[in-house]
Amino acid sequence: MLDELSAIQSDALAAIKSVDSESSLEEFRIHYLGKKGRLTAAAAGMRDVSKEDKRAVGQKLNEVRNTITGLIDERSSELAALKDAEAVADIDPTLPSRSLPQGAGHPLSQMLNRAVDTLHHLGFAIAEGPEIETEWHCFDALNTPADHPARNEKDTFYFDSGKLLRTHTSSVQVRTMEGADAPPVRIIAPGSAFRRDEIDATHSISFTQLEGLYVDREVTLADLKGTLEYFFHSIFGADTELRFRPHFFPFTEPSFEIDIKLHAAGKASRWIEIAGCGMVDPAVFEAINSSREDDLFSPDNVSGFAFGLGIDRLAMIKHGIPDLRLFSENDLRFLRQFA
Ligand code: DAH
Repeated sequence: MLDELSAIQSDALAAIKSVDSESSLEEFRIHYLGKKGRLTAAAAGMRDVSKEDKRAVGQKLNEVRNTITGLIDERSSELAALKDAEAVADIDPTLPSRSLPQGAGHPLSQMLNRAVDTLHHLGFAIAEGPEIETEWHCFDALNTPADHPARNEKDTFYFDSGKLLRTHTSSVQVRTMEGADAPPVRIIAPGSAFRRDEIDATHSISFTQLEGLYVDREVTLADLKGTLEYFFHSIFGADTELRFRPHFFPFTEPSFEIDIKLHAAGKASRWIEIAGCGMVDPAVFEAINSSREDDLFSPDNVSGFAFGLGIDRLAMIKHGIPDLRLFSENDLRFLRQFA
């Protein structure tokens, strides 16, 4: 019986060498381990083995079975690896890959990111507010009286609820001061604003603004000028001329419009308006305090500056883009120029 088992083992070791496919491996398995296989038959002979030999024969039987299953497993993974290698044999890995078209930021996003990065460096954090706003946040808290033309239904999109599409991002000033633990507050609020307008080359019903607000003890007009000069010089170049022209906004006092001097080739240079700004009006701080029900933003203790600018306008000036509608028409011939 032991001899028989040894013979089975050496036959199997020899036979496995010529197994070269999955089907011949299956034949091999059936030949040795199948119901009528040689090892199965040998195992049936165990009942005739004498008591003294049973232990040794049983051990040999296990050894041979383990050897044969080991051979099958090993061959099976070799055959699988061979199959994988054949599958990729026709692929030429030295071929250059097919190039994918590379995307690029929209010119408005590029300008917005640049503006945000520049102010981030100065310590301004990003603040957000809803586009569907209350009249209080958009106008009243910003010292804008009920009869102000901007509140007219002809200029502003109102909902039946009395809410409106914010006409400027200045509403985020109010939201931020209402929600702040305490001054200082130093934020920028990029986002969409909406106005009822006839659409043409320079007017749109929705545009992208960036609002800024800095409130602390003893913030002065010098801080405002320094910050905005740094900002516009970063965007348009250090030799860009700026001027602060007195203006009126309900929520700042004093207020200014900022102009930059444009030098277009072949044309006389001219000043062009680029942003609104000013020192936060004490009436705005009073409105914030009454909403917060405290006096942390008391105009006796804090002061601040605010500014607002149109990202569309910055991008138009920077790139000499003549028509606002180009930003929303998705014409690739236009967009590719900024890729
Ligand atoms: N909200 C103004 C607008 O949309 C822009 C503006 C002007 C914002 C002066 C300000 C500011 O914060 O101080 O035209």
